[in-house]
Amino acid sequence: MLRLLLPLAALAALLGAANVPERSFGIDYDSNCFVKDGQPFRYISGSIHYSRVPPYYWKDRLLKMKMAGLDAIQTYVPWNYHEPQMGTYDFFGGKDLEYFLQLANDTGLLVILRAGPYICAEWDMGGLPAWLLEKKSIVLRSSDSDYLDAVERWMGVLLPKMRPYLYQNGGPIIMVQVENEYGSYFACDYNYLRFLLKLFRLHLGDEVVLFTTDGASQFHLKCGALQGLYATVDFAPGGNVTAAFLAQRSSEPKGPLVNSEFYTGWLDHWGHRHSVVPAQTIAKTLNEILASGANVNLYMFIGGTNFAYWNGANMPYMPQPTSYDYDAPLSEAGDLTEKYFALRKVIGMYKQLPEGLIPPTTPKFAYGKVRLQKAGTVLEVLDGLSRSGPVRSTYPLTFVELKQYFGYVLYRTTLPKNCVEPTPLSSPLNGVHDRAYVSVDGVPQGVLERDKSLKINITGQAGANLDILVENMGRVNFGRYNNDFKGLVSNLTLAQDVLVGWEIYPLDIDGAVNYDISYLLHHPKRSAVKELSYEVPTFYTGTLSIPGGIPDLPQDTYVNFPGWTKGQIWINGFNLGRYWPARGPQLTLYVPRNVLVASVPNNITVLELERSPCSTQACEIEFVDEPNINATLQHETDKPPLFVRELWMGHL
Ligand SMILES: *[C@@H]1O[C@H](CO)[C@@H](O)[C@H](O)[C@H]1NC(C)=O
Ligand SMILES: *[C@@H]1O[C@H](CO)[C@@H](O)[C@H](O)[C@H]1NC(C)=O
Ligand SMILES: *[C@@H]1O[C@H](CO)[C@@H](O)[C@H](O)[C@H]1NC(C)=O
Ligand SMILES: *[C@@H]1O[C@H](CO)[C@@H](O)[C@H](O)[C@H]1NC(C)=O
Ligand SMILES: *[C@@H]1O[C@H](CO)[C@@H](O)[C@H](O)[C@H]1NC(C)=O
Ligand SMILES: *[C@@H]1O[C@H](CO)[C@@H](O)[C@H](O)[C@H]1NC(C)=O
Repeated sequence: MLRLLLPLAALAALLGAANVPERSFGIDYDSNCFVKDGQPFRYISGSIHYSRVPPYYWKDRLLKMKMAGLDAIQTYVPWNYHEPQMGTYDFFGGKDLEYFLQLANDTGLLVILRAGPYICAEWDMGGLPAWLLEKKSIVLRSSDSDYLDAVERWMGVLLPKMRPYLYQNGGPIIMVQVENEYGSYFACDYNYLRFLLKLFRLHLGDEVVLFTTDGASQFHLKCGALQGLYATVDFAPGGNVTAAFLAQRSSEPKGPLVNSEFYTGWLDHWGHRHSVVPAQTIAKTLNEILASGANVNLYMFIGGTNFAYWNGANMPYMPQPTSYDYDAPLSEAGDLTEKYFALRKVIGMYKQLPEGLIPPTTPKFAYGKVRLQKAGTVLEVLDGLSRSGPVRSTYPLTFVELKQYFGYVLYRTTLPKNCVEPTPLSSPLNGVHDRAYVSVDGVPQGVLERDKSLKINITGQAGANLDILVENMGRVNFGRYNNDFKGLVSNLTLAQDVLVGWEIYPLDIDGAVNYDISYLLHHPKRSAVKELSYEVPTFYTGTLSIPGGIPDLPQDTYVNFPGWTKGQIWINGFNLGRYWPARGPQLTLYVPRNVLVASVPNNITVLELERSPCSTQACEIEFVDEPNINATLQHETDKPPLFVRELWMGHL
């Protein structure tokens, strides 16, 4: 390898650039550009989050990005994905970041690494681990010493792994981002940014380009930029490109122009219209950016999926759905779209596109309807879901206090008095985080929901079990409400009385699903359930057999939930995420083929939280070959919520 590079070095020496190492990447402030291997360099990059794409498909997606003419990819490192418990690290399988970097390099793509610690990304808690909240008063993203200690330990694990992958060390990483949009955060703590700068330099050396990203305005750059970190900006299509880059110039009078997040689409929230941004709008602004000689990263180039519980949320509390399609040039399932070809065409006006075949869109298969059977209610299989048994406490404890960070927890107490007449059960301080499914002695009573429904009426006899299954719907990923505690985070009252004497069951549903839910059901004690608009949270199971005699099966598919309300689905123990067709806009969930096997029946587990179709219609889900994440909704607001529009405008 060294030998091969020697003639180049010799050439460089001949040209008088004797000090340029064989592999180098940096900033030329005089020429307002990046410089790679001694030559002026401009990048066109696209975002892909390895945590949102099954590793089975990493290569396919990267190759499609390469074939679009991209020089680089940009990816976030979600800290909470890799350090699920304090001091426990996971870099295996879908979390094998080094393998992902290797694949990018093998595909001929450079990498722009957004190392955090905070990433936003519409990811649970913006990538920060929930266990940080064990110190209740912690000030995240600041010089809070407990926060800094945790960051220092984590970066001491992550960054040494990244060092061999830096460009100058033979790898693909040309730049590393420190923090993310810090100028949008209230703390404005320069000492924190200085601490990160020092820490990153310690582990990565002096050569690598470290940078920050903020909304394209002096307001955002004020607290987001720091001497020693190259300041870049984010902005959307359709605005004034010159004006946006002038904002960057207020922090960086010289050096390359960079839009680190040029939005190809936008995020969704449950209960709001699916975001769509026309390809022409993006193509036009991309053309302007490239014509100005600037560097650009298309966010997202492929959005992918919030599998399991990984979605984040915005405030006022609005969780994001399972699909992170983003209306990006490659769909959630990696499909080539009209937008892909429109943007590729623009890129082709500025550089030679790579030769060769673009990997085709993967085929999808409609496996059809699958009958499900009721396997048991959460209460019926409670012992199997909560091996450790309940924690007893006078007042409710939060998820973090229980050291359970995701999913569902059951809170149980008894009714202190007869509630013959409908009696209000309420959360006066809006402390149900985020949704609670309430039953009395197995009879469903209704749903409490953060910011939406703080009071329901219940009935029951004194001494009856009051069961409240609380769902964590995803932690806030943006702004000052990041420290988002889950569970019952304040007291519940029944009429005027604070409820006390709780038995709190941490639930390991993912563990139990792998173990086979129906097996847990030794002594089913079914209660006579009235016909109500709610049922108690219940597991349903079924199997999907891949038909024989058709070549190349299994293929990707989408699962549809006709008549179902809200819940979670697993196939062969893989947690595909949340479904919520009753709220939308997402109706179908993406099922990548690597989750399915052809040799034996595939085991499906559905946890329906509110109401299944099983007592009135067919007890079925359906595997279809087209996604629907764009359903028109009854309760749809016409415009995106104010917050999102402001955020968007802030970027212009
Ligand atoms: C990355 O790819 C380049 C060629 O583009 C090669 O020289 C280098 O050795 C590769 N690095 C690794 C870590 O594979
Ligand atoms: C874009 O912004 C620049 C700099 O502020 C300004 O000179 C120019 O007139 C603006 N263009 C349009 C079309 O508004
Ligand atoms: C609760 O019941 C009372 C008395 O029947 C009724 O006035 C009230 O509207 C009900 N509240 C809710 C939230 O259903
Ligand atoms: C519940 O109320 C009690 C008594 O007022 C109080 O001490 C406790 O902190 C409250 N608990 C929560 C979780 O709000
Ligand atoms: C489904 O469950 C059955 C029974 O537990 C098991 O034998 C089978 O291997 C499972 N299928 C898959 C694909 O894991
Ligand atoms: C979503 O639906 C709207 C309205 O029917 C349509 O204009 C838009 O193109 C659809 N978007 C996608 C991505 O299907």
